[in-house]
Amino acid sequence: MHPMLNIAVRAARSAGDLILRHADQTGTLRIDQKSKNDFASEVDRKAEQEIIKIIQTAYPSHAILAEESGEHRGDEEFVWIIDPLDGTTNFLHGYPQYAVSIALKQKGKIEVAAVYEPLRDELFTASRGGGAMLNNRRIRVTRQNSLRGALIGTGFPFKHQQHLDTYLDMFRILCIDSAGIRRGGAAALDLAYLAAGRLDGFWEIGLHQWDMAAGVLLVKEAGGAVTDFSFDDQYLTSGNIIAGNPKMHQIIYQSIEPHITDNLK
Ligand code: IPD
Ligand code: CA
Ligand code: CA
Repeated sequence: MHPMLNIAVRAARSAGDLILRHADQTGTLRIDQKSKNDFASEVDRKAEQEIIKIIQTAYPSHAILAEESGEHRGDEEFVWIIDPLDGTTNFLHGYPQYAVSIALKQKGKIEVAAVYEPLRDELFTASRGGGAMLNNRRIRVTRQNSLRGALIGTGFPFKHQQHLDTYLDMFRILCIDSAGIRRGGAAALDLAYLAAGRLDGFWEIGLHQWDMAAGVLLVKEAGGAVTDFSFDDQYLTSGNIIAGNPKMHQIIYQSIEPHITDNLK
């Protein structure tokens, strides 16, 4: 295994174990509201500290971008992008859909990715050029080639409600023509499930780098396509993402394209 993926996996598993140890205490956790509909608990912070400790022990000079503690400066050739608990709202409600997401970006390219879902003990991993795996077995995107029969994942723009009407227009068209739409509440897992063939496509507005970085590499290494809303590759900075097997990616883009406003491109 790629040595940096090995570290990502160790950190993801360790944080996942920590999260699970607190899963029955959500009623007594200290919770901060960061902004509207955006929460962080002490578990988010402790899990992040655990991940950073493991990464810094192995690679003390590398830079880090982590959701709760922000930027840790270092050798900017290597940037670890960390979401210690993706799906915090689910976790706090005891809704069993959350994960740890860790990616390493090297010279601007995502090199390794680990998404760990502790409740199901499912570990999704990828290294650039090396394929995507679920618990060490190769995964591939689906061969679905039409909206009819397709299962599409998404996230609601609950933090960016100025885009709600635009989003609902997109939703309407995809909802009418597909087999169904799922809103799991953890974008890293949505992308991991797409890579594993459990979803045929995915789109969301207003994500952060840490929600997507690992999942994007999983999708690409599983044979999928990922773009922003301009059919370009600036999704990590725009936060707007369309992903799918190559055919479904194209179909989703064509379906929502008439509704994409200039400020989402
Ligand atoms: C959230 C989840 C959710 C997405 C939100 C994210 P968090 O991450 O990924 O699915 O819709 O936009 O913020 O806050 O639980 O780490
Ligand atoms: Ca997240
Ligand atoms: Ca988070």
